[in-house]
Amino acid sequence: SLPWDLDGKRVVISAGGTRESLDPVRYLGNRSSGRQGYALARIAAHRGADVTLVAAHTADLVTPAGVRLIKVGTAEELRTVVLAESDGADAVVMAAAVADFRPVNQAEHKIKKTDRDPEPVVLARNPDILAELVESRSAGKLAASLIVGFAAETGDATSSVLDHGRAKLARKGCDMLVVNAVGDGMAFEVEDNSGWLLGDDGTEERIDLGAKSLLASTLWDAVGRRLSDQ
Ligand code: C5P
Repeated sequence: SLPWDLDGKRVVISAGGTRESLDPVRYLGNRSSGRQGYALARIAAHRGADVTLVAAHTADLVTPAGVRLIKVGTAEELRTVVLAESDGADAVVMAAAVADFRPVNQAEHKIKKTDRDPEPVVLARNPDILAELVESRSAGKLAASLIVGFAAETGDATSSVLDHGRAKLARKGCDMLVVNAVGDGMAFEVEDNSGWLLGDDGTEERIDLGAKSLLASTLWDAVGRRLSDQ
């Protein structure tokens, strides 16, 4: 049976991929299925946590028992809900694939096909919610014990997935970062995941290829340890 080590802890998890509207019927999206975020929510609830799951678009997934689900669409909506829900949380885990850009113009009516060449899509930068959580906490505007990010990285000739992860942990300023190895059919739209769990305290734990629920257990083990040390 699972440990009951998150009893009374309040956790906020974001999951899925945001969709940025071009017009009432079209959007820019991504391939996130939400499976990792849902697995995190399910395991945390089993271990006694009070779980709020903020879900953007996902595959057809079962809402885990006892989890409070809040559905969102765009990155801006995700931002509003996550920032509001995170105040006072013991852990905030950003597993959502948040669109980095959104179309500058969202047409009120469906864009029509004409004989002319289509207009180019102009993009604007979206807020980095993870970075904003960290900044708000530093500024004393948000109380959250642990802020955890996810990163999907590919290794290349000069830098490994682990190197990219270490750099991103430092850049984002979060307390922990799960780095997933992606590419070659890994991580997205599949059941399994692998990578590293990095802590700002220097801990580096390898996560072998396995079910997303296994990665979730490894993460909650580490979160539980960090919370009991505080
Ligand atoms: O920089 P990158 O997009 O790889 O970082 C991924 C992490 O940052 C994830 O935890 C994701 O949820 C978060 N993120 C965010 N807001 C964005 C982009 C990413 O919170 N606009």
